[in-house]
Amino acid sequence: MQNNTTFSPEEIARLPVHIAAIMDGNGRWAKKRGLPRTAGHREGSETFRRAAEYMADIGMRYFTVYAFSTENWKRPAEEVGVIMGLLEKYLQEAIDSMVAKNIRLCFFGDLTPLPDRLRRLIERTDAISRDMTGLQVNVCLNYGGRQEIARAARRLAERVAAGELRPEDITPERMGDEMYSAGVPDPDLVIRTSGELRLSNFLLWQSAYSEFYVTDKLWPDMTEADFAEAIRAYMGRNRRFGGL
Ligand code: IPE
Ligand code: IPE
Ligand code: MG
Repeated sequence: MQNNTTFSPEEIARLPVHIAAIMDGNGRWAKKRGLPRTAGHREGSETFRRAAEYMADIGMRYFTVYAFSTENWKRPAEEVGVIMGLLEKYLQEAIDSMVAKNIRLCFFGDLTPLPDRLRRLIERTDAISRDMTGLQVNVCLNYGGRQEIARAARRLAERVAAGELRPEDITPERMGDEMYSAGVPDPDLVIRTSGELRLSNFLLWQSAYSEFYVTDKLWPDMTEADFAEAIRAYMGRNRRFGGL
């Protein structure tokens, strides 16, 4: 049976391989309900869990989400603490469901400043994830696109300084190999919720030719049908990559 959240065989052939999402609007979702912003993050983490399951169900290969930016540390310590706690809770639960659903969880970003407990959970998740062959979920955590590009440049510069590479060996391909996303195809579709028309330092390098889809829906309100709508909008696009 086909409904608006499942795809016909013709559609399946045209599904994106990699979807990325800027999960925005948790605070506004809570504010609309007279709740503290942290209630929005709680609901948003539930939406993330459902979204990842949906992506796995429809056979998506990669799903990359923006969970916490390098700039989000500017928020009140209490809010940051709640977000870190929710990530811990999510990982604790995911460790059990990952194997059952064959989902591989990866992390993009500088994990060194994260709380110890969260870092240890990420290490455990990494170890379990290695054998999973289904959907790969990339969680961007303390992630910034500019920081990622600068890090790649630094890593290549070190190899030049060590005499392993010449400056002229630095190509876009070599840069790509030094990104957190090395080996992952660029996102076909980037979804941003809550109507904001900006990248906010997300996947600057990788989204060079991504299709964008912005919805006014707030992240916690996103349903399977909303993701399906974004995917169908993507399927109607004409990607040219600079050609004709
Ligand atoms: C996105 O929701 C979650 C994070 C940035 C961690 P926001 O917290 O940015 O929600 P708004 O944009 O204030 O509504
Ligand atoms: C982007 O949302 C970061 C995440 C969704 C994690 P923000 O809410 O931080 O972005 P700005 O501040 O509106 O640009
Ligand atoms: Mg926001």
